[in-house]
Amino acid sequence: MFPTEPQYGDPPQPSASKTQTRPASRRRIVGPIGGLSERVLALTFDDGPHPHHTATVLDALKKHDAKATFFLLGENVARYPKLLRRMVEEGHAIGSHSWSHPSHATHDQAVRELERTHQAILKACGVSVRLFRPPYGIVTGSLEAQAKVRKYTSVLWSVDTMDWRYQDAARIVRVAGEGTRRGDIVLMHDIHRTTAQAVPRLLAILDRRQVRAVTIPYLLDPPASDEAPAR
Ligand code: NI
Repeated sequence: MFPTEPQYGDPPQPSASKTQTRPASRRRIVGPIGGLSERVLALTFDDGPHPHHTATVLDALKKHDAKATFFLLGENVARYPKLLRRMVEEGHAIGSHSWSHPSHATHDQAVRELERTHQAILKACGVSVRLFRPPYGIVTGSLEAQAKVRKYTSVLWSVDTMDWRYQDAARIVRVAGEGTRRGDIVLMHDIHRTTAQAVPRLLAILDRRQVRAVTIPYLLDPPASDEAPAR
């Protein structure tokens, strides 16, 4: 049904040898990624997919040849699976953000939240999830513990746009477009109209700054600089 099963929802990378590999111990990412030879950062979008705003975000990313990482809620994946197929086709990465975004869960609930989401994403687009973002960024609960059991890499962020609170496109553009640095991981939510409105503008600013938006897997394990594909 699916011609390829990319590990992270990334397009196949060149098979040439790499100068860096992702350390096996890297199970939780909590800040910017250092040591990068390229001017790259990662835009991440949580809580979707949303039937309208996610499509708007995808349109803008495509126009700018930019890649992003989407941390999806299983309950939304089940409603809008077509958007996942589009994400994968267009080279974006996909991660789990639990099924229903609970702030707390028992052990059994956490097992179900992650397993249901894993299966829903696999069914929707053929990706076997390896990335996780804990709801509310809580790394002390049972969801995070289950993510560890599943050997997911847990990804937090280094720049929080606070888009859900301010609902202000200009503020998002300023924080994510102008206020970012190489290796940053930017937190946004593709379920808000203001965020979708901000993305084309912030991508234009990144273009002007000659900063490329790449996926989390790319940021963690970039190709050797002399082999970097033009994307
Ligand atoms: Ni969230």
